[in-house]
Amino acid sequence: MYTSANATPVTVPELHAKKRRGEKIVSITAYDASIATRADEAGVDFVLVGDSLGMVVQGHPSTLPVTMDQMAYHTACVARGLRRALLVADLPFMSFRDVPTALANAARLFSECGAAMVKLEGGGWVCKVIEALVRHEMPVCAHLGLTPQSVHRLGGYRVQGKTEAAAERLRADAHAVEAAGAALLVLECVPAALAESISRELRIPTIGIGAGPGCDGQILVVHDLLGITPGKRPRFTRDFLAGTHSVVDAIGAYAAAVRSGEFPAPEHAF
Ligand code: KIV
Repeated sequence: MYTSANATPVTVPELHAKKRRGEKIVSITAYDASIATRADEAGVDFVLVGDSLGMVVQGHPSTLPVTMDQMAYHTACVARGLRRALLVADLPFMSFRDVPTALANAARLFSECGAAMVKLEGGGWVCKVIEALVRHEMPVCAHLGLTPQSVHRLGGYRVQGKTEAAAERLRADAHAVEAAGAALLVLECVPAALAESISRELRIPTIGIGAGPGCDGQILVVHDLLGITPGKRPRFTRDFLAGTHSVVDAIGAYAAAVRSGEFPAPEHAF
C-alpha cells in the first residue's frame, strides 16, 4: 500500500524525468503542516508555499503585503508536514529585487526552512537573479503570464498573452528563463494553445494554472481545490471536495484527474 512515510522523496531530476516520460506533474499550494501532510498522503509531486497566502490566509486583496518573515514561517510549517513531496517556496514582492537580496532571502528559505526550490515571478531582468541562484545551487521555478505581484501594472487579474505580440513576448521570456537555468516554469492564466506550444518547445516542465491541459503539470491553490475560497471561484478551478468525504480524498481526486488528463477540461481553459 502507498504511504508517504515509505515513499522515495521527489527530486528536481525526477520532475524532469516525468516530463520526458510524458507523465503529468501534480502540485497544490499549502501554508501549514496539516494540509502538507494530506498533500503528501494524496501523492502530490510538489507543494508550493505560495505568496497567495496573503489573499487566502491573511485576507488581503493582493499578494503584495506578504513579507519574507511570513514566507519563512509558513515554509517551515509546511516542511514539517512533508515526507515525499518536493517543497517549493515563493520569494515574495521585492524580496528578489537585486542579486544580493535574492541570494540572502532564498538561502534563508533553503537553509532555515527546508525549501528545495524557490519560485519567483517575471522574465527579463529576473533572468540574472535566476542565474545567480542556480549558480549557488538553489533550484528555481520561474512564473510567467499572470504574475500577481505585477497586479498594478497589469491593471487586474487578467488572462495574459492574448495578442500576437504579447504571446511572442511571453514565449521569448519562457525561453529566457529556461536559458537562465530555471528548473520549472509556472504559466498562469495564458491561452491554452500558447501554453501548449511553449510546453512543447521547452525542455523544463511547465506547470499550468488556468493555462489548459497542454502543460506538463498543474497546480491549484488548495483553497480553490477545496471550494473554500471566499467570493467567486476562479473559472480555471474545480471544487474537488464536492462528492468526496475527506480532504485527502479531494486532493487525491484532483491528482488522479490531472494524471488522467481529465482536469483541466475545456471549460477551465482560456
Ligand atoms: O502564490 C501562489 O500560490 C502561486 C500559484 C498560484 C502558482 O503563485
